[in-house]
Amino acid sequence: MSSPKNAILTIGNQQIELPIITGTEGEKAIDLSDLRKNTGFVTYDPSLMNTAVCKSSITYVNGEKGILCYRGIPIERLIKDGVSFVQIAYLLVHGNLPNSSEGKAFSQLLNVNSLMHEDMRHFFDLYPRGAHPMHILSTMINALAVYYPNVDLLSLKEDIDISSARLISTVRTMAAFAYKKSLGEPIVYPRNDLSYCANFLNMMFDSPVAPYHISEQDVRLLNVLLILHADHEQNCSTTTVRTIGSAQVNLYATISAGISALSGPLHGGANQAVMEMLRKIQKDGNIKKFFDKVKDKNNPARLMGFGHRVYKTFDPRARIIKAECTRYFQERHITDPLLQVAFELEKAALTDDYFISRNLYPNVDFYSGILYRALGIPEKMFTVMFALARLPGWIAHWREMIGANTRIVRPRQVYIGKKCRIPSCNSDKSGVN
Ligand code: SDX
Repeated sequence: MSSPKNAILTIGNQQIELPIITGTEGEKAIDLSDLRKNTGFVTYDPSLMNTAVCKSSITYVNGEKGILCYRGIPIERLIKDGVSFVQIAYLLVHGNLPNSSEGKAFSQLLNVNSLMHEDMRHFFDLYPRGAHPMHILSTMINALAVYYPNVDLLSLKEDIDISSARLISTVRTMAAFAYKKSLGEPIVYPRNDLSYCANFLNMMFDSPVAPYHISEQDVRLLNVLLILHADHEQNCSTTTVRTIGSAQVNLYATISAGISALSGPLHGGANQAVMEMLRKIQKDGNIKKFFDKVKDKNNPARLMGFGHRVYKTFDPRARIIKAECTRYFQERHITDPLLQVAFELEKAALTDDYFISRNLYPNVDFYSGILYRALGIPEKMFTVMFALARLPGWIAHWREMIGANTRIVRPRQVYIGKKCRIPSCNSDKSGVN
């Protein structure tokens, strides 16, 4: 039976037809664009759980089947084909994987833009020691608009490659500098002879007294982790970017806002929170006691790295990251007791009715921290890694939103406050009764 072209909404004795939009993968949406104009009604959907805020061609997520595709290509295929993070960045921003000349030109742009303005180095000296790198990153990205002022809309649309490359490359340098600063160690500059991931690892771990040996396994693993975090359709931080960008705020300030949204423990901050949770459980040695806390409505404890607004089955990224844990630890002949705790925790949760009945499965953050730790990346940098990876996704969505001449985002509300005392015509002139 063919699906209806319109939905019928009956309000009292008024009946209106609302067009039905069908997405590429068959998802259905009721177009409410003219609802208020035709009925005076708005819809009420707090947290936008049932609302598509845009049409997008960048990423497809199917939460029931656990599917994630970038520009139509399943992530499992991209990982299997050994595509690099830089190629994925190009795919997300431009819509296709780069051919050899496009790839060379984009890598060249990344190299040319890998240094941040030398004056920006002094920013780090102004931060108190122990400042969280996400706060530093958000501030410094905002400041890029001061050092690279051609961020008005027109130039950015035309220079999208330069502005994308500057963000993707410079932010990687900023992140590594922030880490070195936090250690009180001399910063390590990017090198044009290294790939994106090798450069980052070198800037993080090279030192004048102990040269860093770049391992191909580490470079490969970092590519995989960044690819898996590169985009995820209308998540909280991407919706923030699209919303702020709709006011025609410059790209750097828009991305700075995305970073702030991502830093929340319910969003990108979860990978760091998972490690803290695993250590607590390892110390207590009592998963059941922890689960009792999580199930207690009066206790704010959550099984971090589990659950998802969209995935009601395994997050496909969690499956890949879990397999990478086994592969990497075997290749490097290392172990991590926290990985065993994570395996046991997952097994216990997947057989516990509280989690099963709520469709709570491991998400991208459950195992990722264990691999970042194995690469030597400190926990305070885990969410920074998420931000580095998500940059191409944010830029792609910003570009798509600008390209569609999106009107400024301004939702409505249902007012439930005090009755407005509208001054009547005989009230005193001040208008206050
Ligand atoms: C990311 O959106 C994206 O795509 C995000 C992301 C991306 O790539 O951009 O995928 C990245 O943010 C992954 C999520 C990382 N966050 C965490 O791991 C934090 C722990 N997870 C939860 O806080 C929660 O699952 C959310 C925030 C991820 C989703 O929250 P929802 O969709 O609002 O779910 P909910 O709070 O309405 O929960 C429904 C029920 C509730 O129980 P009841 O009221 O029905 O009894 O499930 C329970 C919740 O209490 N629940 C959990 C839980 N997650 C939900 N209970 C214990 N532990 C959890 N983790």
